[in-house]
Amino acid sequence: MTMLNYTIKDLLNKGKEAVLQEVCVQGWVRSFRSNRFIALNDGSTIRNIQLVVDFENFDAEILDKINTAASLKAIGEVIESQGSGQEIEIQVQKIEILGESNPDELQSTILQPKAHSLEKLREQAHHRFRTNTFGAIMRVRNSLMFAIHKYFNENGFVYVNTPIITGSDAEGAGEMFTVTNFDLEKDLPKNEEGNVDFSEDFFGRHTNLTVSGQLEAEVAAMGLGKVYTFGPTFRAENSNTTRHLAEFWMIEPEMAFYNLDMNMDLAEDMLKYVIAYAIENCPDDLKFLSDRFDKEQTQKPQNERSELSLMERLEYVLHNNFVRLTYTEAIEILQNSKHNQKKKFKYPIEGWGMDLQSEHERYLVEKHFKSPVILFDYPAKIKAFYMRLNDDGKTVRAMDVLFPGIGEIIGGSQREERLDVLDEKMDQLGVSKENLWWYRDLRKFGTVPHSGFGLGLERLVLFVCGMGNIRDVIPFPRTPKSAEF
Ligand code: 4AD
Ligand code: MG
Repeated sequence: MTMLNYTIKDLLNKGKEAVLQEVCVQGWVRSFRSNRFIALNDGSTIRNIQLVVDFENFDAEILDKINTAASLKAIGEVIESQGSGQEIEIQVQKIEILGESNPDELQSTILQPKAHSLEKLREQAHHRFRTNTFGAIMRVRNSLMFAIHKYFNENGFVYVNTPIITGSDAEGAGEMFTVTNFDLEKDLPKNEEGNVDFSEDFFGRHTNLTVSGQLEAEVAAMGLGKVYTFGPTFRAENSNTTRHLAEFWMIEPEMAFYNLDMNMDLAEDMLKYVIAYAIENCPDDLKFLSDRFDKEQTQKPQNERSELSLMERLEYVLHNNFVRLTYTEAIEILQNSKHNQKKKFKYPIEGWGMDLQSEHERYLVEKHFKSPVILFDYPAKIKAFYMRLNDDGKTVRAMDVLFPGIGEIIGGSQREERLDVLDEKMDQLGVSKENLWWYRDLRKFGTVPHSGFGLGLERLVLFVCGMGNIRDVIPFPRTPKSAEF
């Protein structure tokens, strides 16, 4: 008989086919009960394999070391399970303890098998990959990332890598982390105006971590047609909310010859594709997260509860068209809503021109339309310099995709391809034309209509996993005053 090495996922998927095989599995002990049953997990799946140990055949010394969180390698024969709850189990012949775990010290960790709060999991981010909840989220996150690459690859997009260190502020919002090689303990070189002289810094200019790869993606799209970026982006905005991170991952497709309608079609199609992929490929993890979500809803006040279960919500997105309406129409709906008249918004609707808060976005999605919504044609004043100006002279071809429980999940636009209009806008908003000479150049040599958008990966993972706090869907969250691990 040849011995086979299996991940627990592969072995459990084989099921009864594996009976009588001699196998080797490795993993971490989740529990050991009656000195006989070990629940072993190796991270390949949320499911555990049950190891059956006849303690009469093992040294007490080994048995003493089979504690929760210890790692071990087990060799044995696959048998049909006697108990309920699993199809197969392993009758163990040999156990090798790989790493011990001290039961006394374990008490204070989240590895202790009992319910822990998400806050506590965050404090022990180095342990949380081993918990059911975080493990499930990480596998779903992986599946979504893979699906995103697959979608773009199958649709003729070229994946381009845009720089992480840049000299420009793509959003013009000034929310950047400076990158410097200056010795901050020493006096910094100053120019004649008394400002720090970055010409003496490493790159010979002021540089920062990128807030978006869009501008460089536009450059690439002007040669390659359809491209996308997928990388980390950084925002030094001091927003301590459940939807903001200082470091997050963004997917930014950029397409030559696309207008805003085509851009919206692409965003909707891509979201549906990747969500369907996760449903198909992560059934166990989503089942677990869905049960968790539904249980959490019952603990909320009635008016905050989601009307749909997590799986129903995902299915709803797949099978319904997103509602599309202009910013102007949305403001009217919000202004006339009972919610506004009864002064229930924290930020009351003041009228056309105001920026929408996430409570407004969620009202439209969750209460009014009960569907994902794409808002477009926003006031130029509240959007970035690169968005294409409409003929009305006051709105731009912007679009935001709004999701239940999240608010904005995607932000995008048709880009201003007319140099004269772009120049005027840059002047108005004080965006440096000198700095972005290369961006302006794109409009001088064969400019074309083009569009793109940015999808925040963590917001997508939040939605698919039914989680409420963005810190729980990224391995090591970076937020104001927090960069542990
Ligand atoms: O709306 P934003 O700022 O758009 C851009 O950066 C454009 N340059 C994208 C483009 O057109 N290529 O950000 C896009 C998305 C948001 O909709 C949101 O999902 C996510 O990025 N996002 C954040 N996610 C987590 N933490 C933050 N601080 C985020 N800021 C934006
Ligand atoms: Mg936005």
